[in-house]
Amino acid sequence: MSMIPDDKINEVRERASILEIVSDYVSLRKSGANYQGICPFHGEKTGSFNVNPARGIFHCFGCGVGGNAISFIMKIEGLSFPEAVKFLAKRVGVTIEERPRTATEKRQSDERELLYKINGQAAAFYRQLLLNDPAGEAGRQYLERRGVDSATSEAYGIGYAPDKWDSLTRHLEQLRVPLDLAEKLGLIKRREGGRHYDAFRNRLLFVIADMHGRPIGFGGRVLDDSLPKYINSPESPIYHKSEVLFGLNLSKYAMREKGNGIIVEGYFDHLALYQAGIRNVVATCGTALTTGHIKLLQRYANKVYTLFDGDSAGRKATLRSMELFLDEKLPASVIELPPGDDPDTFLKTQGDGAFAGHLAKAKPIFEFFFSELLGQYDSGTVEGKVGTIEALTPHLMKIVNPIERDLYIKEISRKLGVDPRQMQKKIGRSPVSSADLAVPRERVKPRSNKGPEETLISLMGKYAGVIKRVRDYGAANLFSADLLPIAEAIMAHNDSEAGIDWALLLEQIDSTEERSRLAGIFMDDDHLDEIDANKAFDQCRMSRDRSMLKDGDVKELKKELSRLDSDSERYWEILRKLDTLRNKKSQLL
Ligand code: CTP
Ligand code: MN
Repeated sequence: MSMIPDDKINEVRERASILEIVSDYVSLRKSGANYQGICPFHGEKTGSFNVNPARGIFHCFGCGVGGNAISFIMKIEGLSFPEAVKFLAKRVGVTIEERPRTATEKRQSDERELLYKINGQAAAFYRQLLLNDPAGEAGRQYLERRGVDSATSEAYGIGYAPDKWDSLTRHLEQLRVPLDLAEKLGLIKRREGGRHYDAFRNRLLFVIADMHGRPIGFGGRVLDDSLPKYINSPESPIYHKSEVLFGLNLSKYAMREKGNGIIVEGYFDHLALYQAGIRNVVATCGTALTTGHIKLLQRYANKVYTLFDGDSAGRKATLRSMELFLDEKLPASVIELPPGDDPDTFLKTQGDGAFAGHLAKAKPIFEFFFSELLGQYDSGTVEGKVGTIEALTPHLMKIVNPIERDLYIKEISRKLGVDPRQMQKKIGRSPVSSADLAVPRERVKPRSNKGPEETLISLMGKYAGVIKRVRDYGAANLFSADLLPIAEAIMAHNDSEAGIDWALLLEQIDSTEERSRLAGIFMDDDHLDEIDANKAFDQCRMSRDRSMLKDGDVKELKKELSRLDSDSERYWEILRKLDTLRNKKSQLL
């Protein structure tokens, strides 16, 4: 149940132009009545993503997602339905005054809201200490030593946790914050059976924000060389480390604009780039890169750069990430730094010009991997060559672009002095054929080889006459269980004067999968011009009849027949039945 009144939702849906909304995220080109672009939801090079502005719907023929403007925003911004409606409302200038929530609605969403609020209160507390309080002097000095200017400090909401056991605890008590919730967030801890105390003490605090800028956790750095260098918030109902990229809230627009993103390891790396004006950056913050991270990145960027420390740990992290990039088909290059440097020290000592040079020289991650192997094995010996090839093969096979794969094979064979055909054989994929070459956009046409039921459904969308025939014949006699509700929804919509509201129709379908499928069916109906509606109707009716005449029925009857006396009434009844079934079937087949 939504907290937003229905008429407001309708207003938002009517005002939101799907073309404008999607264009913020995807570059679209007109193609017939539709617009096409690269799907933001899966890694692709061809433009399978379609928008039908007249119907207000989108669909990707590559990964199958689809829906209306609201579902698009839900998916791309990671929002719930009401959140997405509010997001769009702001964009299209609809004011939503929420009705008071029911007790259950309140209980359900309140804890999360409260957790965000408490983190916000803690962030404000630590921030104000850093800015104005005598107790924040140590933090201010540290920031100055590291050359962090006040605008940057503000952008990150950096704070300082003083060297005391109970500053935050007392502050939260004063604000009447339930301490068990602050404990859930890892802001305060509790001695067994005893009192609460602050988790962060004498540390500079980074606020970890989600992509919308909501505070979900903290990372606290010591001010000297003592260990551990960082203490981070634990997992909580609002903080899941494997799904969060630090700094995404500050970088998402820059990444979208540039089409690429830079991945660094730490808070200070992120900050250093940001302060140098390089904004398309995210940080993993100590955790290994995950598939979740990459999926998140793919919403904004179609290429990434890794920028890890120039030491062996940094190189190892780079190699570990390669596997994920290959699996998720996200092109990645490696920006290498001199040994001993991290992004922060490099920018400080060499400046942005030198950084730009290193960026320009970034190596595709596979090439980086290959040069690492060349350093590791002695490619002068047979053993070394074999070892290198063995190590390369499983990864080489994952390179999706056949031209790229082929070029690597050539390059590797040349460097190792082996026959490229032998390597080709080992990889087990054929060399580039013209059919493998990237499909130009124009060639990606929606599939039109739909089943009879799908064809009939699309015809209902195009011709009111077909809707009438379906209604007269009975939709239940024509459609199987999964498409029946959709047919019924179309019939119901057609009763309204204005005809079918496609975006609304899609919204009323609960299952994401069904909604996506439907958007696919209705994305394009040019091909229907050549289809005879009556024929499609008959085909659908027949295929339905056919599937209702299951072989099982016949078997059952025969079984019963074998047990019956040929004198009995039932015996003859069954014979007659079998006969009609057989006739019907032969007509249909
Ligand atoms: N990290 C952590 N816990 C530690 C050490 C590191 O969570 N004990 C995470 C932090 O997110 C840190 C990142 O790993 O930002 C990278 O670590 P490191 O390079 O040591 O820290 P920097 O952020 O680069 O800090 P500095 O520049 O002050 O050395
Ligand atoms: Mn570092």
